[in-house]
Amino acid sequence: MSTSTSTFNRADWQQGYTSLATESSYWIEQVEGELPQSLQGTLFRNGPGLLDRNGVPYGHPFDGDGMVVAVTFTGDRAHFQNRFVQTPGYLAEQRADKILYRGVFGTQKPGGWIGNCFDLRLKNIANTNVISQGDRLWALWEAARPYRLDPETLETLGEEDFNGMLAAGQTFTAHPKLDPITGSWWGFGVQPGPRSVITLYEITQTGTLQQHWQRRVPGFCFLHDFAFTPNYQVFLQNPVNFAPLPYLLGWRTAGECLELKPNTPSKFLIFDRQGDLVEIETDSCFVFHHANAYEEGGRLIVDSVCYADYPKLEPGTDYKQVNFDQVVPGKLYRFIFDVERRTVERQPLLLRSCEFPTVSPRSVGQPYRYAYLGMIAQEQGNAPLQVLVKLDTQTGSVESQSFAPRGFIGEPVFVPHPESTAEDHGWVLSLVFDAARGCSKVVILDARRFGEAPVAVVYLRHHVPYGLHGNFTHRRWR
Ligand SMILES: [Fe+2]
Repeated sequence: MSTSTSTFNRADWQQGYTSLATESSYWIEQVEGELPQSLQGTLFRNGPGLLDRNGVPYGHPFDGDGMVVAVTFTGDRAHFQNRFVQTPGYLAEQRADKILYRGVFGTQKPGGWIGNCFDLRLKNIANTNVISQGDRLWALWEAARPYRLDPETLETLGEEDFNGMLAAGQTFTAHPKLDPITGSWWGFGVQPGPRSVITLYEITQTGTLQQHWQRRVPGFCFLHDFAFTPNYQVFLQNPVNFAPLPYLLGWRTAGECLELKPNTPSKFLIFDRQGDLVEIETDSCFVFHHANAYEEGGRLIVDSVCYADYPKLEPGTDYKQVNFDQVVPGKLYRFIFDVERRTVERQPLLLRSCEFPTVSPRSVGQPYRYAYLGMIAQEQGNAPLQVLVKLDTQTGSVESQSFAPRGFIGEPVFVPHPESTAEDHGWVLSLVFDAARGCSKVVILDARRFGEAPVAVVYLRHHVPYGLHGNFTHRRWR
């Protein structure tokens, strides 16, 4: 059986969790291969840019301040820019040069439990995703409102209220779905509680926010993502229990108070266009991300990365020292629903540990064939993501591009060729941390020749800390 250190060196992997305190903007000099003339536009991605304050580490990488990266391709050149989202919490900690806020996942303020008890302020860190609509750009964090940015300069313009439609304290998911039919972004907000409130929103092509429905559902909801089809919005209600006392008393962060309830099924919440709900239970599992969903032959199909348990860090654990053998792996499954009969069948699609599932933006909510994911390099157990994968969901065949032992991959983003007719006619872009150089690079793969040498590799002058999600827009912001 393989061990978690067989495909990578821990010190290499840890390097990618170093803060990048500087902001820069430059044309990239070092390009290997040839940039495709037809690849024109901007890759926006978001993630924690700071992993520490004045040498004191945040307790979890998800707690780091959002730093948006824009890589613009002009057909023959590439330009890099990065900028922190200037939230009030970020600015206050910049001025103080120390941690002033508790993080949701693993960060406490200095001063032990006395320094943290009853401090329930949320610091919007705007670090999870970045989406664009026309000339608008938003950095997203699911427990608060989006932050509006200038797409050209990445300057922070302020917290977005969509002309008063999204009040202070309301939330907007970091995983909205761009509807390829209407051009709208569909998203949701959730107010968790003993009975949680879910609200469905649409950001139209003109940037207007519309609320479609609001429903109260029984039980606590930790909903990071949802799946979207023309007729359904699907949420997996993870069977988690939130016991807030240790959080209130300053002993633990909020995220550390979540636990998967033993022997409790997970529940799919399937809403139709009117907001009418059908609940269908399935075997216990925890889901952060859905790859895609679609309707076919009267069935509803949802593909999701499932964990057998909630993959949290034990309180006080240094995430850079995590024992990967004890981290539950994520596996891609297909759920096939007969909504009318309220039945579901589950089939495995990819059983090696994987995350960051994406599809062509033209296939969101539609019947599709290819999913792109990050995967571990070893066959079993768990490890950092080092392999980009193209999965044929019809045949089960996998094509891969490995960066092991010294490369660590980010989310794959599929960009359709402007004249594409086939689903996989386009490129897959990923930001890869190259520990051998101590720098990051943008790798461009021809999606139809996935396992072959990259079409081009764009070398940055520095590293970019491991990030979360992003999107490509064919509009060139340079
Ligand atoms: Fe996510």
